[in-house]
This record gives sequence, C-alpha cells and structure tokens, in this order.
Amino acid sequence: MEIIDGKKISNQIKEEIKYEVQNIISKGDKPPHLAAVLVGEDGASLTYVGSKVSSCKQVGFKSTLVKLPENIKEIDLLSKIAELNDNKEIDGFIVQLPLPKHIDEEKILLAVNPNKDVDGFHPTNFGKMALNMKTFIPATPFGIMELLKRYKIETSGKNTVVIGRSNIVGRPISILMNLKGIPGDSTVTVVHSRTVNLESYTKNADIIISALGIPGFVKKEMVKKGVVIIDVGITRVKDNNSTRGYVIRGDVDFNSVKEKASYITPVPGGVGPMTIAMLLKNTLLSKSLLKNNY
Ligand code: GUN
Repeated sequence: MEIIDGKKISNQIKEEIKYEVQNIISKGDKPPHLAAVLVGEDGASLTYVGSKVSSCKQVGFKSTLVKLPENIKEIDLLSKIAELNDNKEIDGFIVQLPLPKHIDEEKILLAVNPNKDVDGFHPTNFGKMALNMKTFIPATPFGIMELLKRYKIETSGKNTVVIGRSNIVGRPISILMNLKGIPGDSTVTVVHSRTVNLESYTKNADIIISALGIPGFVKKEMVKKGVVIIDVGITRVKDNNSTRGYVIRGDVDFNSVKEKASYITPVPGGVGPMTIAMLLKNTLLSKSLLKNNY
C-alpha cells in the first residue's frame, strides 16, 4: 500500500509555478493576479479563502480578497463581479461557495467572464471540459487527475466508481475519468444517495473516488483488494481534544480500508492541498489566455 502524498505533490506544483512566475517577471511582465470573493463569515470558507490568498504570496502571485457582508443584495454582488470582469489588473477570480440562501448561485456563476473563471464553474468552461477542449478544469477534480498522473496510476479500462454527484467534484471527475487520455479512459459509474445497493458497485471498483461528505462512509467490507482510494471528503467533526474544537475527517475509514488498498489518499494531506495548487495553475493559465484575447 502506498500513501498518495498530496501535500508533497502540491508543494512540487507550487515550486513549478513559482519558477514560471519568476520567468514572467524577468521578462518585464506583471505576476498573475487572483481575486477571491467571500460573502459572509462561514468558518470553513474563511479558512479556504485564507489559504488561497496565502498560497498566492508563496508563489509570487498578486492577490485580492473581496470580503462582502452576509446580507449583501444579489444585485450588488453582480455589480462587484462585473467590476472584476472589467478590471484588467485581475487575471482570474473565484466566488467562494456556498453563497447565502437569498442569492441565486446559478445567476452568479453565469455572470463570471469565462476567460477569468479559474474555478471552471461557468457552463462555457464546464461544456468545454466535457468536450475535452482546453479550458479551466475545476480545481479539485484537476488535483485528483494530477495525483493519478504523477503517481502513474493506471486508469485505462479500469472500473472507476465516483461516490457523489456534486457540480464541483463528483460530476466533473466522472466526466474527466471517462474522457480519452492519461489519466482517463475509465469505465465510470456514478453512485449517489438514491443508488440501490451501493456496495455492489464499490466492491467491483478498481478506483473509488469519494466526494460525499459523510465521515467514515467507505468501510473495508465495501472495497476489493488492490483498490485505489481517492478521498475527497473534508468534514469538520467536533473534537474537544483538539485546540480548534474540531478535526477534519474524510469519507473513508482510513485505518481499515488502507489494509486492502494499493494506493490511498489521507485526510488531511491528500486531495485538499491539491485544490489550491491547481487553482494557482488555472490562474497562471488565465494570464496567458487573457494576454491572447485582449
Ligand atoms: N467551495 C468548496 N470548494 C470550492 C471551490 O473549489 N471553489 C469555490 N469557489 N468554492 C468552493
């Protein structure tokens, strides 16, 4: 069994990006500039956005944090997005999800200029991804693909079972694993909360990608020997022994499942750190895309 070290790989990717940034600057150009829009005070979102901004500093990017109140009107958020779309100093930006209930998420995602949509959430970019065209791939699925690639894990012809069908992980990773390519060329099954006899699918899986958000959901009885496990779960579980008052738990019962797995991602330190590294990679790509379009 080999543990897939997302922390190590994400640091390698950040080093590669840092090198690219130095190249850009040495040619007299400006470094990439990422903006993040955060609405409200959700604890997890604050942490994620904070990490995104500090990672920008690490690789030499410029970053801007746009913090808006929980009760902001939808129309005011839309005008902030229009401002970011028009701002030539900004190469790419994200709107951190989830948004407060009174805001129509679909309307917001549609308002982002696809050329600056480094999250890859705009339908134009999602459609391009599904057609295997060059575009921004959502950061978490992009990170999973990069881990599979760098660990040289065979995916061609394998039975890949994706648990969960969210727009930001389950659905895009199911598409990517099925596309022609390395990694890719898998036979993909997507299982979810309405699936009957879910175990019958996971037991036959060569690769399981779990993005469900239920801690410890995948147990050793549900997997076959030699399975590759990619755990995307990052649920905060109350823990009074921890100084923060919580611990982060994955979807997979790591200690029992690792005995049967050929490869497994830990939580934390697996897929999580890759998400930020790939967002930075998309921002770097955005800079070159914008240069060609303007
Ligand atoms: N919320 C959880 N994951 C993400 C992400 O990758 N991007 C954004 N914008 N919001 C998220």
